[in-house]
Amino acid sequence: MISQGLVTMSYVAASILFILSLSGLSSQETARQGNYYGMAGMAIAIIATLLSDAVNSYVILILALTIGGFIGTKAALKVEMTQMPELVALMHSLVSMAAVLVGYANFFDNSNELVGIEKTIHEVEIYIGIFIGAVTFSGSIIAFGKLCGKIDGKPLLLPARHFLNLALLIATFWLGSAFLSGVETGGGTFALILMTLIALAFGVHMVMAIGGADMPVVVSMLNSYSGWAAAATGFMLSNDLLIVTGALVGSSGAILSYIMCRAMNRHFLSVIAGGFGSSSGEAASIEGDITEIGIEETALLLGDAKNIMIIPGYGMAVAQAQHTVNEISKLLRAKGKIVRFGIHPVAGRMPGHMNVLLAEAKVPYDIVYEMDEINEDFPNVDVAIVIGANDIVNPSALDDPNSPIAGMPVLECWKSASTIVLKRSMAAGYAGVGNPLFIHENTRMLFGDANDSMQAVLKALGK
Ligand code: TAP
Repeated sequence: MISQGLVTMSYVAASILFILSLSGLSSQETARQGNYYGMAGMAIAIIATLLSDAVNSYVILILALTIGGFIGTKAALKVEMTQMPELVALMHSLVSMAAVLVGYANFFDNSNELVGIEKTIHEVEIYIGIFIGAVTFSGSIIAFGKLCGKIDGKPLLLPARHFLNLALLIATFWLGSAFLSGVETGGGTFALILMTLIALAFGVHMVMAIGGADMPVVVSMLNSYSGWAAAATGFMLSNDLLIVTGALVGSSGAILSYIMCRAMNRHFLSVIAGGFGSSSGEAASIEGDITEIGIEETALLLGDAKNIMIIPGYGMAVAQAQHTVNEISKLLRAKGKIVRFGIHPVAGRMPGHMNVLLAEAKVPYDIVYEMDEINEDFPNVDVAIVIGANDIVNPSALDDPNSPIAGMPVLECWKSASTIVLKRSMAAGYAGVGNPLFIHENTRMLFGDANDSMQAVLKALGK
C-alpha cells in the first residue's frame, strides 16, 4: 500500500502524460512519441491504483486484469487494420457498459454515509452516468454493426423521429425527478431501470437514423460520449484521474466531431439530433459508358505526366497497396515528376486512416496534403490516380442535391487532365451511391485489386 499523497502525485503525473500524449498524437511526426506518453501514463495510473487503499481484493482484481488483458491482446493481434473502426466502436461500448454497471453498483451500495446535498449530488451523478453510459453502449453496438456491414448502412427514418427523441428526453428528465424523490423514500429503482431502457432505445434510434457516409461523425461522437461516460464513472467513484482522463477523451472527441462535421459540411446540432445526411429525394441514376485502361497504358500516362496526384481511399487499405504505391511514387519522383498525395478527411474508415497507412509505408510527410490544401490545384494536375476511393471523389456530392452525400466536400480530381480509377468492379462505395466520375470523359478505369494493379504498373514503369 502507498500513501494517498503518493497516489495523488502519480495521478497528476499520469494526467500530464495523457495531455502530452494527445498533443503528440496531433501530428504524424510526433504520433509515435504520443503513444509512448500514453502508455507510460496508463502504466503509472494502473500501478498507483493497484497499490492504493481503494483495492481490497487482489484476487478479483488480478482475475479481472488477466481476463481483460487476454481478450484485449487477442483482439488487437487478430484485428486487421481495416477492422480497426469496428474494434474502436466495440471498445466504446465496453467503456460505456462499465459506466452503467458502476452506476448500478453505486446505487445498490448502502455503505456510503453521504447525507443532504452531497447525497443528492451523488444520486444525480449516478443517474447521469447511467444515462450517458446506456446511450453510448447501445449506440456503439449499432455503430459496430453498421461498420462491419451486419446492419444496413441506410438511415432508418421513423416518422416524427425528432418528436420521438424529444419525448424520450422529456421522459428522461421526468424520470430523473421521480428517481430523486424515490431515493428519499428508499425507492427509485423502477425509475432508474426505466430510464436505462429509454436511454438504450435512444442510442439505437440515434445511430440507426444516420446514413452511411456520415458514420465518421458518429464514430467520433461516440468516442466523445464514451469519454464523458468515463468521467461520470470517475465522479461516482470519486476518482480524480478517471474524471480528468474522461474529460480529456470527451473533449478531444468533441473537437474531432466538430472537425469531422466541418469536413462533411454538416451541422453539429443536426448530428446530435440524428437523421442528418438523409435526403428526401432519390439520387440521380448514373448512365453512360466507361473507358477502361490497361497496365501498359497506365504506365505510359504516368511516364508522360509531370504533375501527378495520388488519391488513396478505403480500397488501398483493403488491398494493402500502400507499400507498392510508395515504391511507384519514389520511382516517379526519381524521374523528376511532381508527385503528391491528396487526403480526404473521411477517406477510409477511421479518422487519419490514410495518413496511418502512408506513414507505415514511409511516404514522406511533406508530399502528403490535406484536401483543403490541394483541391484548387487539380486543373494543374496531369494525372490523378484514385486508389480504391469512391465516395470521396464523387462529383454528385456537389451537383446532385438529392444525393445522400450532397454537400460533402470532395476531391475534385475530374478537373485534372486525366484521372485513372483503380477498383475491382463498378460497385458503389460506403455511402452506396453511384459515381458519375467513372463515366467522365477524362476518366479511365483500371479494374483489379489495387495492389496487383500497382505492382504491375511498377514493373511496367521500371522497364
Ligand atoms: P469508399 O467510398 O468506401 O470506396 C472504396 C472503394 O474501394 C470501393 O468502391 C471498392 O470498389 C474499392 N475497393 C475495395 N477493395 C479494393 C481492392 N482490394 N482493390 C481496389 N479497390 C478496392 O471509400 P472512400 O472513398 O475512402 O470513402 C470513405 C467512405 O467511408 C465515406 O463514405 C465515409 O463517410 C465512410 N466512412 C468513413 C469513416 C472515417 S472516419 N474515415 C468512418 C466510417 C465511414 P470495388 O468493390 O469495386 O473494388
